[in-house]
Amino acid sequence: MQFGYFDDEQREYVIQQPDTPLPWINYLGCEDYFGIISNTAGGYSFYKDARLRRLTRYRYNNVPLDAGGRYLYLRDDDPIENHSRPLFWSPTWQPTRLPLDEYECRHGMGYTNIRSRLAGIESEIRYFVPLGENLETWELTLTNHRQAAANLSIFSAIEFCLWDALDDATNFQRNYNVGEVEVLDEVIYHKSEYRERRNHFAYFACSEPLTGFDTQRVAFLGPYRDWSNPLGVEKGSLTRSIATGWQPIGAQHVKVSLDPGVQKSVIFILGYHENLLDDKFDPPDSQTINKRSVLPIISRYLAKNEINRSFQSLGEYWNGLLEKQQVTTPDEHTNRMVNIWNVYQTMATFNLSRSASYFESGIGRGMGFRDSNQDLLGFVHLNPDLARQRILDLAATQLPDGGAYHQYQPLTKRGNDDIGSNFNDDPLWLVLSTAAYLKETGDWEILDELVPFDNTLGTEESLYEHLHRSIQYTIDRRGPHGLPLIGRADWNDCLNLNCFSNTPGQSFQTTINKEGKVAESIFIAGLFIQAAKEMGEISKRHASSHDPDKYSQLANQMEATVWESGWDGDWFLRAYDDYGNPLGSKDCEEGRIFIEPQGICIMAGLGIEDGRATQALDAVAEHLATPHGIVLHQPAFSRYYLHLGEISTYPAGYKENAGIFCHNNPWVMIAEAAVGRGDAAFDYYLRINPSAREAISEIHRCEPYVYAQMIAGRDAPSTGEAKNSWLTGTAAWNYVAITQWMLGIRPTFVGLQVEPVMPANWDGFDVIRYYRDVRYEISISRQGPGNQVLLIIEGDPIDGTCIPLPPAGTSVVRVTANIGEA
Ligand code: GLC
Ligand code: GLC
Repeated sequence: MQFGYFDDEQREYVIQQPDTPLPWINYLGCEDYFGIISNTAGGYSFYKDARLRRLTRYRYNNVPLDAGGRYLYLRDDDPIENHSRPLFWSPTWQPTRLPLDEYECRHGMGYTNIRSRLAGIESEIRYFVPLGENLETWELTLTNHRQAAANLSIFSAIEFCLWDALDDATNFQRNYNVGEVEVLDEVIYHKSEYRERRNHFAYFACSEPLTGFDTQRVAFLGPYRDWSNPLGVEKGSLTRSIATGWQPIGAQHVKVSLDPGVQKSVIFILGYHENLLDDKFDPPDSQTINKRSVLPIISRYLAKNEINRSFQSLGEYWNGLLEKQQVTTPDEHTNRMVNIWNVYQTMATFNLSRSASYFESGIGRGMGFRDSNQDLLGFVHLNPDLARQRILDLAATQLPDGGAYHQYQPLTKRGNDDIGSNFNDDPLWLVLSTAAYLKETGDWEILDELVPFDNTLGTEESLYEHLHRSIQYTIDRRGPHGLPLIGRADWNDCLNLNCFSNTPGQSFQTTINKEGKVAESIFIAGLFIQAAKEMGEISKRHASSHDPDKYSQLANQMEATVWESGWDGDWFLRAYDDYGNPLGSKDCEEGRIFIEPQGICIMAGLGIEDGRATQALDAVAEHLATPHGIVLHQPAFSRYYLHLGEISTYPAGYKENAGIFCHNNPWVMIAEAAVGRGDAAFDYYLRINPSAREAISEIHRCEPYVYAQMIAGRDAPSTGEAKNSWLTGTAAWNYVAITQWMLGIRPTFVGLQVEPVMPANWDGFDVIRYYRDVRYEISISRQGPGNQVLLIIEGDPIDGTCIPLPPAGTSVVRVTANIGEA
């Protein structure tokens, strides 16, 4: 069952009924100002940091679902016969939830459009954030389809958040007293705490003269009412309340009179603005906000022409990004995800890491170290400059011993231990992201950038040295078998082998651990081999003090260790626990086989030559694959194991306890491609591809246009149900798996490689890829079975599968690749 459809031409997903199984959201903004917006206009906005600079309130886990948003109400001001109460409704369905005659929501690239119709009044609202600005615009267009003139009131309503969203939701003894606003020339300014240490404020403005406004929530809603029936809307007039304390809001009242057939636009803007610290007030000795620098911005964006112009620029911006790689394959789900939605989602994960979504509250996590490094893998080709900056920001949170803070707060860019430390895989991901950046750009100078440790002045070393310390960090932390010690956890946050927590309410992430000199991770071993190999390649090409051979020796050594102590005969082990017993082994009753080491070790090249990789992948197919994707492990843990930690806390089939953790499914796709099995890789790809799952939306329940972190596994009562959509490493990894390994268009240090491993029944496909400022037009054509590649560049066959870098000044390179034995 579907709740909408893809409009690929417009690059939109069109939702046809407001009561989707869960709020289906979109993101507004892609620079500093962001908002999440649901298909019924729920959501909130923030500047840079969803926790520390929250503009509007949102109530997670509320009833009804999705409470708080960018609300508009339409009210029929003409008395209606036989109606005891006036007719008013939300053109976005929420919050009044009055049934609409027509409804359609279009989520597009950086904008959302909600169109509806009730009682002969059509309404269309376009929400977006203009590029380069810290504001969002809502343009409402009303059309009167009635035979008679319509006298309508429009009400807007937002609820301001007192900036720090965590404090806002907890510290009521203070917060009920600090709220302050100004209303001047019909603009509502939210300025709580502006009198003291803040130099920023929010504003809410409208293009039409206001009949009234309210800024105190209780005045607008009336006591004991909610957003579905505000007293002010019911009465048709607002009270001009000025909030001090309690809950500051912005509500505006505009009256319009529309003749039959007439259309009218009204623009609302909500924005964030900062003043210089010593120029906050005007006059300087007053307490009034200095509005000189904000007023020109407000008047600019209240004009329809400017809105249209900036909406067009937003479209061009996204065209420019998506154009970097476009594919035409025989499969519509592949085309749609690769050309539109998968890229769009990697932008969201790049911008927001795991901070703000319908499932991430914006107050829990900032920018994750391992998460952001992995997000870069799918993002780097889109905007290499931003990727470069991100790599340097991440490296600056690294610690002198090579370790890393697990996350940093985007506003301050300083690392913190709020969600734990000593995840021993963390530092290695920096090597992978930097390698991906180098392969994409050839910008070797980044390695010489001086970057501090722990953001401390005076500690600067080259980025290259940072990478070296990432490698050294693992070398310095090896256990009894010579495998990497796991620390608090590796990629799997919930495999807590040193935690031994038996106290209710303790956080597995932050509680004090054992010293951890025994528990080892085969996953980190695989990741290390991959990182060390990349370092070897990087060192070869970069004049440096470290011996390049050293890294390949380290990789070989670790590989030997894995074969000796990390191979269980049919598949790779997962770990050794604190007692030195293996996990993910045939001998285990539960947790006998895990997906992560199979994926990561084969990605690192292990067993590809000698058939052991195929053997491990066959085991994955046999034990872990389900129609909805590949589960993390089997059998699921049926009870809590003190020595395994959080992984065994979840009911079987959910999250890290044998859920389908979509993030690592692409590792298996890549591994299948690496052993040459295109059909298997592509089959796994389609099982979790959101577009391919659209037809079962009533089971999947999350948005069909973006990946979710988790799909309930085979042990769960709700098998196939997705949770935690949008902010997941799944986005970047699936993009890498499909584009670089199955379609096989792979950046390398020396040029673009073309090595497709496609399904047997594909005749071929076409790719346009911009790489180091050159446009590659690549046409792949199957000549026979197998994956053998013959590359023909501008008509000339060449040896190998890598397109050599063209001479400077070349703008287009045309490539044909013949696949298979002719
Ligand atoms: C979450 C975390 C990620 C971790 C994964 C598995 O997605 O953001 O860092 O690797 O869970 O535990
Ligand atoms: C919890 C989640 C896990 C996530 C982690 C991040 O352990 O289960 O998926 O990665 O929190 O803090």
